[in-house]
Amino acid sequence: MGKVYVFDHPLIQHKLTYIRDKSTGTKEFRELVDEVATLMAFEITRDLPLKEIEVETPVQMATSKVLAGKKLGIVPILRAGIGMVDGILKLIPAAKVGHIGLYRDPETLQPVEYYLKLPSDVQEREFIVVDPMLATGGSAIEAVNSLKKRGATKIRFMCIIAAPEGVEAFQSVHPDVDLYIAALDEKLNEHGYIVPGLGDAGDRLFGTK
Ligand code: URA
Repeated sequence: MGKVYVFDHPLIQHKLTYIRDKSTGTKEFRELVDEVATLMAFEITRDLPLKEIEVETPVQMATSKVLAGKKLGIVPILRAGIGMVDGILKLIPAAKVGHIGLYRDPETLQPVEYYLKLPSDVQEREFIVVDPMLATGGSAIEAVNSLKKRGATKIRFMCIIAAPEGVEAFQSVHPDVDLYIAALDEKLNEHGYIVPGLGDAGDRLFGTK
């Protein structure tokens, strides 16, 4: 079974409170999501492999560490996932960014892929799929299905708030994909919103409604 990592860093938790607050306006909401994404990227990259190189300091030669060149890909689920991309790229600017668009079929209620653009070397990359909310899990499951279908083997999923129902559904389909979240909330309500959640992440990020 995949693991669920809850990033309980005080800065993440502090910022998340203001993200949840309904009186936080679009500009501040977007900035906070960006900052939380950066902090989560810091945590999720903890296990990246390092290698040693020689570097000349003003004093003498030294052996020092750099990232071992693991190729990373970030895949936001449209549209709310876009709000997390820049924050992650601040820390890992060499990552390539794919995009996946999904809509919910009104009859089957299942997510259907309408857009997909991934880096060409899918098999060689480790992917972080991002979406601020893991609600029913439907979009996250389908996004990871799409990546696996194209040959991705190393995938993580990162979101800001998850519902227990979404975590369970996701893990039952993708037990090989670890989840990285800032908060595990109480439940989903009858409209599919996470409770207490933050409302509609896409609308709050982009000022629509
Ligand atoms: N998507 C959102 O943006 N918010 C929720 O609460 C659930 C799904």
